[in-house]
Amino acid sequence: MIAAEPTTPLIPTLTPEHEELQRMVRTFAQKEIAPIAAEFDESGEFPLDTVRKMGRLGLMGIEMPEEYGGAGMDTLAYVLTMIEVAKADASHSTIVSVNNSLYNYAIYAFGTEAQKQRYITPVASGEKIGAYSLTEPMSGSDAGTMESRAVLNAAGTHYVINGRKSWVTSGPVADYVVLFTMTDPELKQKGVTAFLIDADKPGFIRGKKEPKLGIRASATSEIVYENYEVPVENMLGKRGEGFKIAMTVLDAGRIGIAAQALGIAEAAYEASLTYSRERQAFGGPIGQFQMIQQKIADMKTRIEASRLLIYNACAAKARFKATGARYTTEASMAKLFASETAMFVTDEAVQIHGGMGYSKEMAVERYYRDARITRIYEGTSEVQRMVIARSELGLR
Ligand code: CAA
Repeated sequence: MIAAEPTTPLIPTLTPEHEELQRMVRTFAQKEIAPIAAEFDESGEFPLDTVRKMGRLGLMGIEMPEEYGGAGMDTLAYVLTMIEVAKADASHSTIVSVNNSLYNYAIYAFGTEAQKQRYITPVASGEKIGAYSLTEPMSGSDAGTMESRAVLNAAGTHYVINGRKSWVTSGPVADYVVLFTMTDPELKQKGVTAFLIDADKPGFIRGKKEPKLGIRASATSEIVYENYEVPVENMLGKRGEGFKIAMTVLDAGRIGIAAQALGIAEAAYEASLTYSRERQAFGGPIGQFQMIQQKIADMKTRIEASRLLIYNACAAKARFKATGARYTTEASMAKLFASETAMFVTDEAVQIHGGMGYSKEMAVERYYRDARITRIYEGTSEVQRMVIARSELGLR
């Protein structure tokens, strides 16, 4: 009998190195991050100290080679890190995610050797903060329609950038930005070009900080460019290649957000298990009631299904490295399912906790707010469905 050709990658298993990393990150996150999460959520302050500590542990450049200040590990290692950090605090995991899979990866995949040395090394080691900037006030899901412009100067040495970028994660503190802007607007998506931006130059203006529902300690802001001059050697990839770079990098980023969603869901689930065992009503723990048991069973099943889709996406990304076959669909399926699961699980967690779940005295209130963004950023659930369906229908 001829074995059927596998259509999806095999689920990877954890190596002893993965398990060691998982233990290390879990211990660090529970000891150093979990205790400060509520305080930073309340103040909205950027947790620079713990971010630097994560950098020293190698968590800001997990997949980057050691020569660029990274830990030289794989995507599964990145995912395990994201889950553990998100379980302690989603805001910290957002910062880890942007530095690793959007900022570093963009430069690693598309940068020159000089760009990698200069822009990855300080961020992968946690000394500096990176950001990824695609979205604009009038360009979100329809990412190829941006209004910002980069115009080559007469001498041909610099591009002059003008425009307003919005929802820049780590925008208020970023040292460097991977920026996507239009060099050739008449070409639409094919007119987008990526640049590496230094935040300490004239014309880089940090705009208003967003007052957010959740992930409040991961600072988010607008960035306005006013005649900002970027040297031509800071172009990332080729002129007009920016949209493809943005999309390629988002494939990697979406696996990270799926892992973040899983971490938030796991935290809410574990709190719910404890509460279901301890909270007494009608003469016994509430976990004895079938209506609570149904919630527990559905929460657990969706969590484990999310994990399998995320691991599957890791395997697909490894396949991409070996064969060049895109893993766009696998990444979108993982993000779609895990983020919808995070919302379902945190909502049920609040319900299980009753009135206490609505109080800031319990962490589930924060998990519920933090989970909400995972259905929106790095592509809404609607965009993920569009990506999956277009691929299945052969529309692209
Ligand atoms: N990898 C490589 N190339 C890709 C690609 C991918 N994943 N997706 C699309 N492309 C290529 C296509 O092949 C096509 O190339 P050709 O013309 O050469 O064939 C080109 O890009 C245009 O593709 P589409 O026609 O599919 O583009 P579209 O305009 O229809 O848009 C979309 C598709 C999926 C809706 C896309 O715009 C999208 O993903 N939108 C959501 C944007 C997003 O996720 N924004 C979040 C920003 S980051 C953030 O959230 C903030 C943060 O800091 C965390």
